[in-house]
Amino acid sequence: MFPTHRPRRLRRTPAMRRLVSETSVQPRQLILPMFVKEGATEPIPVASMPGVVQHTRDTLRKAAVEAVQAGVGGLMVYGVPLTHDAVGSGATDPNGILNVVLRDLRSELGDDTVLMSDLCLDEFTDHGHCGVLDPDGAVDNDATLRIYADMAIEQARSGAHLVGTSGMMDGQVGVIREALDEAGYLDTGILAYTAKYASAFYGPFREAVGSQLKGDRKTYQQDPANAREALRELSLDLAEGADIVMVKPGLPYLDILRVIADNSEVPVASYQVSGEYAMVEAAAANGWLDRQRTILETLTSIRRAGADMILTYWAVEAAHWLSS
Ligand code: PBG
Repeated sequence: MFPTHRPRRLRRTPAMRRLVSETSVQPRQLILPMFVKEGATEPIPVASMPGVVQHTRDTLRKAAVEAVQAGVGGLMVYGVPLTHDAVGSGATDPNGILNVVLRDLRSELGDDTVLMSDLCLDEFTDHGHCGVLDPDGAVDNDATLRIYADMAIEQARSGAHLVGTSGMMDGQVGVIREALDEAGYLDTGILAYTAKYASAFYGPFREAVGSQLKGDRKTYQQDPANAREALRELSLDLAEGADIVMVKPGLPYLDILRVIADNSEVPVASYQVSGEYAMVEAAAANGWLDRQRTILETLTSIRRAGADMILTYWAVEAAHWLSS
């Protein structure tokens, strides 16, 4: 009356577990999101994201070098401008904070890392939406696309290897691809935010970028209740020329990630967002979770669900753990 099958055999020793382990996380698969604040003279801590700061131009450059030395695969940069307006002029201005620091980082790092830029208007608009508004106050998809095209060219000119289309406007990947090609930036790629949900987990990020948003983003970001439209967004992004597709947030959307990974012809990214970071940090600070084990388990889970790469605010720290 004994079991014939004993799965525990393969779990007995560390050596055996190491041999049969299916999923690994490597530093090169981690991408560090970074914030830089225009005019800042010292780094400003983001209260809801302990350990994360809004950098100055100078500390951003140093932190970027350290991240690359730690072996992370790429950097995703967000600019926090001093002033905002209705059309987010800072986004297309060559002297706007994001474009300025892209030049800083590209001249510092060359092609040693993959430099990515957030291609979205929300950091730059005074209403905080990801696009411009029509006279009724609704987000105007096609008018926004024209600005995204200019933004893409400016970011490519400033040195971005990949532009991250996080605005969730219809047709954004196609319009940006065409604009980049016409301007001669054939080699600048598009990291498409393919399935981006209207998530409460972006809360701390909005503090990190000084968001001006009053309402919500439900007319352009996806409903957390829906899985099917993620596949539709995937087909569209692939047809429009996405080089990498992303699912966002991370942990609460592993089912979506799995479906996208199973159906994508291009590499798949997952974004472990600010609220996921804040949640673990808060619990760990209270002694309720083992911080390192929890972080590594979340990264492993996201990889297991199909992500080739992960944007995570823990990228540098995790890279150190994983390479030691
Ligand atoms: C939009 C953007 C957001 C995030 C990344 N890009 C915020 C939003 O859509 O409201 C969130 C990232 C995070 O929460 O870590 N530019």
